[in-house]
Amino acid sequence: KKIALITGGYTGEAEVSFKSAAFVQAQLDKEKYEVYPITITLEAWFYVTEAGIKISVSREDFSLDIDGHIVTFDVAFIILHGSPGEDGRLQGYFDMIGLPYTSCDALTSALTMNKGYTKAIVRDIQGLYVANSVLLFETHRSEAVDIVEHNLTLPLFVKPNAGGSSIGMSKVKALSDLQVALDKAFDAANTGAQVLVEEFVTGREFSQGIFRNTEGELIVLPATEVRTTREFFDFEAKYVAGLTEEITPADLTDEQHRRASGIIRDIYVRLNCKGMVRVDFFLETGTDKFYFIEINTIPGQTAQSFIPQQVRALGMKEGDFYAELIEAAIS
Ligand code: DAL
Ligand code: MG
Repeated sequence: KKIALITGGYTGEAEVSFKSAAFVQAQLDKEKYEVYPITITLEAWFYVTEAGIKISVSREDFSLDIDGHIVTFDVAFIILHGSPGEDGRLQGYFDMIGLPYTSCDALTSALTMNKGYTKAIVRDIQGLYVANSVLLFETHRSEAVDIVEHNLTLPLFVKPNAGGSSIGMSKVKALSDLQVALDKAFDAANTGAQVLVEEFVTGREFSQGIFRNTEGELIVLPATEVRTTREFFDFEAKYVAGLTEEITPADLTDEQHRRASGIIRDIYVRLNCKGMVRVDFFLETGTDKFYFIEINTIPGQTAQSFIPQQVRALGMKEGDFYAELIEAAIS
């Protein structure tokens, strides 16, 4: 089968996407799958041949013309974090040209890229809580500090509402730091985008994947606990080895484990997810409540990322896991 492995992107997460795609490609069985990494940037959509020649992808049918030989694909394996691979744009395009893909559909991708809107959908799931927050638009920028001060209690997390990998994100412990954090998030979010300000939940942080296999069953992966020595699980903590202790499977009681799995299934179903997704959450100290942070519909697949760790903890080979996602997408 011919696989278009989609990588790159418009955001600061492009570097992560290249690493994720290289990892996925290395794991896939070369006998079964012919993998063509396709890079999508604002400027170009292209494939680089083994001889180093850059070939543009046809935007009409996503085919490649390699020396007069036309290559068409059976499936697009989307490993592009952020826009346009995680926010529904490519999904909408692939729907229009009839190319199956491994991720959530256009609507779910677009919705879940918006952390604030997603909270509004998942907040009534039994046993799942969301931190108090305000969603700020560019037009609120001049009064943002006042709005936050009147509605929320410190400490706070300030983040671009449609961001990833903690880019543009700050933890704010003093009101005097709020303006700088808001500016940073608005600047990272780009003009017209939103900023989410959330109250801090004191507790342990977890991340847990789930996918639908070729039999149509939902499989919840073992959870990972994240313990960072940094102020929070920021970009460096995510991608520089040694800054974070990641425990997979996480040390949860049986009851907590069952509860988390149930909640994650409910989130997957409620949001009509497809393929693999990963949910980030907190377990609040004292109350034992699970708080939703966000859902990632194109979760990282670098060698250090959570999903590969969780797949290994399940006793599965990463290559077999990726093959399941491919086969489920085209069945
Ligand atoms: N946004 C990053 C890639 C993740 O969720 O893993
Ligand atoms: Mg994320």
